[in-house]
Amino acid sequence: MKAVLVEALDGPQALQVRDLPQPEHGPDQVLIDVAYAGVTFPDLLLTRGLYQVRPPLPFTPGSEVSGTVVFAPEGSDLQPGDRVLAFSLIGGFAEQLLVSDLTTFVIPDNVSLEAAAAVPMNYFTMQFGLVRRGGIRPGDRVLVHGAAGGIGTASIQLAKMYGAEVIAVVSTPEKGEVALAAGADHAVAAEGFLEEVRSITRGEGVDIVVDPVGGDRFTDSLRSLAPEGRLLVVGFTGGEIPTVKVNRLLLNNIGVLGVGWGAFLFKHPDSVTAQWADISRGLESGALDPVLGQTFDLDDAAQAVSSIEQRAAMGKQLIRCSA
Ligand SMILES: NC(=O)c1ccc[n+]([C@@H]2O[C@H](COP(=O)([O-])OP(=O)(O)OC[C@H]3O[C@@H](n4cnc5c(N)ncnc54)[C@H](OP(=O)(O)O)[C@@H]3O)[C@@H](O)[C@H]2O)c1
Repeated sequence: MKAVLVEALDGPQALQVRDLPQPEHGPDQVLIDVAYAGVTFPDLLLTRGLYQVRPPLPFTPGSEVSGTVVFAPEGSDLQPGDRVLAFSLIGGFAEQLLVSDLTTFVIPDNVSLEAAAAVPMNYFTMQFGLVRRGGIRPGDRVLVHGAAGGIGTASIQLAKMYGAEVIAVVSTPEKGEVALAAGADHAVAAEGFLEEVRSITRGEGVDIVVDPVGGDRFTDSLRSLAPEGRLLVVGFTGGEIPTVKVNRLLLNNIGVLGVGWGAFLFKHPDSVTAQWADISRGLESGALDPVLGQTFDLDDAAQAVSSIEQRAAMGKQLIRCSA
């Protein structure tokens, strides 16, 4: 089968497409013909050895896929031929992938294989982030940074599904359009966002900030929180890991909370069942409708991952693997 390989930690341009042997499944593994793989920011970090996990070289990146079941373990709810989405830490940029049945889910009939590939990483992370970590409630105001990106658009749709009002923060007007189309109530520029938030909320502030960006906007994010507000630390696409002066937390009874979905999943593998109940309901009703960006061929995986580094992605970038 064709698969993408990281052979050296020299960034996305060094990705190679190689012919590898077909994967051989064990009795407990699910074998999938991969239709599409989603491209995530962690894939970019993995190509440079900058992610918290560093698989031994060579390895195939790609943590989320959609496709068709070829083999399912005995006693599993899955059947050969099922259309599924699945997540794995690595291995997704390939024509076939072995995964666990715990992290493989049958796609609702109304959802395309393209849209399904955009679900695993971002929607599971932000369902966990908004519900379990952020304690989102109907009527909350939620501010989303990097709002036209993968985590951003998933956050917008989930927050709306849970009854919140959403303010999207973006770097360009085009990205603002993407965020509004994803369901945001307001889109504001990253430059000077605090003043905009104060004006939209009539000085009250927001209940939750979703922050996949970090960097120098962090202090203004804290200032934009209402009393008892929560800032969700999701990632650091801006590069710099911010520090917090904890007196700010005390003064306004606000909290800064980490969202490490992978770490939680590792300790609580069964938690995905309840998460999927919410996410699949949202997909079926149309409340969750992944915003898709560009689709690249497997041969162009280097370009696909580079587009994330160039801040060019609007919505979810996909790689067509064997569709
Ligand atoms: N904690 C978890 O469990 C978890 C799970 C998944 C992902 N993540 C993390 O979440 C972050 C976002 O991932 P994603 O897939 O949503 O990425 P993405 O689709 O590329 O979106 C990231 C957004 O960050 C903004 N950004 C600001 N400065 C940037 C820069 N220097 N370079 C690139 N983007 C920049 C961009 O929005 P503007 O141009 O509008 O500013 C961009 O749309 C990553 O750090 C990822 O590792 C964490």
